[in-house]
Amino acid sequence: QEVHAAEMERTFIAIKPDGVQRGLIAEIISRFERKGFKLVAIKIVVPSKGFAQKHYHDLKERPFFNGLCDFLSSGPVVAMVWEGEGVIKYGRKLIGATDPQKSEPGTIRGDLAIVVGRNIIHGSDGPETAKDEIKLWFKPEELVSYSSNAEKWIY
Ligand code: TYD
Repeated sequence: QEVHAAEMERTFIAIKPDGVQRGLIAEIISRFERKGFKLVAIKIVVPSKGFAQKHYHDLKERPFFNGLCDFLSSGPVVAMVWEGEGVIKYGRKLIGATDPQKSEPGTIRGDLAIVVGRNIIHGSDGPETAKDEIKLWFKPEELVSYSSNAEKWIY
């Protein structure tokens, strides 16, 4: 069954400064890649505090908002867009619960993090946020559409 790239769901995934500093970039990318999802955009950036505030605007009333934005802008972040059937929801499953103490073993946060304020990875929580976050972090020309030979064995 042929699945066209243009119809494929996309999500925004970011490795936060703690994940980058701890040398977990390859480990995290590997989990999405082995699942069969496709990397269609990637860059490493140090977001400004203002940019972090935009990214987390939904949380601006929360008590941890300021610390969270300081943290996200404290160092390099690996920003990515991953593509595939169900990637938004399943990406969240690969990531695990927000609080690593509640994340299942086998998930990224469950296996690799301990506290909520240092939970190493972000993933869009739904189709609307995915669209908004991809638009915030990437220019359209930074997204690459391509087909891989593996696809016919994945779908
Ligand atoms: P949230 O969007 O609720 O979680 P998720 O990252 O799983 O989508 O929160 C965003 C980030 O805010 C979360 O990854 C870590 C931080 N955070 C705290 O520091 N303390 C908290 O109590 C919560 C709920 C989140």
